[in-house]
Amino acid sequence: MVVANRLPVDVTLGEDGEPTWTRSPGGLVTALEPVMQNADGAWVGWGGSPDLELDPFDADGMRLVPVPLSERELEDYYEGFSNDTLWPLYHDVIEPPQFHRQWWESYRKVNWRFATAAAEQAAHGATVWVHDYQLQLVPAMLRQLRADVRIGYFHHIPFPALEIFAQLPWRKQVVEGLLGADLIGFQRAGDASNFVRVVRRFTDLTTRGQVVTITKHGKVERHVRAAAFPISIDSKKFDALARTPEVQQRAKEIRTELGDPKVLLLGCDRLDYTKGIRHRIKAYGELLEDERLSVADTTLVQIASPSRENVGAYQQLRDDVELLVGRINGDYGELGHAAIHYMHHSYPMEEMAALYLAADVMLVTALRDGMNLVAKEYVAARSDDRGCLVLSEFTGAADELTGAILVNPHDIAGLKDAITYAVHLDPREARKRMRRLRKRVLENDVALWSESFLAVLTAVPVRGESGTTT
Ligand code: G6P
Repeated sequence: MVVANRLPVDVTLGEDGEPTWTRSPGGLVTALEPVMQNADGAWVGWGGSPDLELDPFDADGMRLVPVPLSERELEDYYEGFSNDTLWPLYHDVIEPPQFHRQWWESYRKVNWRFATAAAEQAAHGATVWVHDYQLQLVPAMLRQLRADVRIGYFHHIPFPALEIFAQLPWRKQVVEGLLGADLIGFQRAGDASNFVRVVRRFTDLTTRGQVVTITKHGKVERHVRAAAFPISIDSKKFDALARTPEVQQRAKEIRTELGDPKVLLLGCDRLDYTKGIRHRIKAYGELLEDERLSVADTTLVQIASPSRENVGAYQQLRDDVELLVGRINGDYGELGHAAIHYMHHSYPMEEMAALYLAADVMLVTALRDGMNLVAKEYVAARSDDRGCLVLSEFTGAADELTGAILVNPHDIAGLKDAITYAVHLDPREARKRMRRLRKRVLENDVALWSESFLAVLTAVPVRGESGTTT
């Protein structure tokens, strides 16, 4: 069973009261859908609209269990505590986190609702996999309700350093919530060690390496393991999609529609302040100003998919980005040669694959990112071994994708040099780098990610099994 904030689909009620659904956005869906379709499991999550009270139903080869959220809970639990407290806190306080007791109360209440739904649906001895920062209290709550199940938790976003995590007024409750799991997965080894440090600081429990020992009345009850499991994409599926004649043709059309630039740069992100979109556009604007690049030869396509539009920091970001794009286009654009093609919408996979294929240089300049699956998608799409990835060292992907041109996006001068280097990269060197990247991305796909996590999780003895520790 999977428990995540979002179901893998957005649900709406038809006029006949029957649920109709469409795919919902987000990296998690991309990552888990192939896994769940192959498993005889259920997915517990929110359907994407407020006040949706629905019975469990089957869709896309999965049993879906919708958890209702009211308008108020969306404001307090989702937009508030999840996306205006935890999100900025866990992304190294790029934006100041807001701490409100009322949001915390809602977070607790909603986490309890998810835990209850999971407890009702899980078979005896089931393996339950809880996902991400919106549901950090679910592991302990579920354990309280169902001592017979195995509980895994995967944290898709960064886990911050102790000194930053310490700001959270409810830090102890969050750590205890997570410790309800048998296995806690993180994207990077550094995230797992940050977590273990936090456990040592805010609980009395003993730790040995990445293993925490839970004791009750002085007796060892069980162990919790923290470890890194870097997430990936369905690389082969993406590779195959990008090889289809339709996508190849569309990639050519895109370049033609853009006026056949010599160099096409691409940025593609949720419109989120963690993605370093402002830094990227600033660096590009300065390269035009310095005449190291010209709009006659170069264009930047920036796709910014709408995200969390009710949260103030996201509204501000949109204004900032759009002002910057407007300025640069005004200053450097010419008829038929826009400096930046900026799109504030999402695109289907096919169009994304065509854009990746069309782009000479992919810019991933996140200031902080758990993994960044766009970087992996770009690599998976490039079966021609061409193209060049400029990648922020503050992404989880940077640990694996060492064939990329790694950058510190805060260093605008360095970022400008890296973009220039990528634009002029010798094709043989580019091919060498891309081959290295592709080897890694094709070998480490999402199936391997979930298999490795589940292999460790299912090795944990549960109550009633021989060798049990309880
Ligand atoms: C990140 C998070 C996911 C989240 C996704 C989209 O990838 O790790 O948990 O679902 O962003 O954000 P949203 O707020 O729209 O669900």
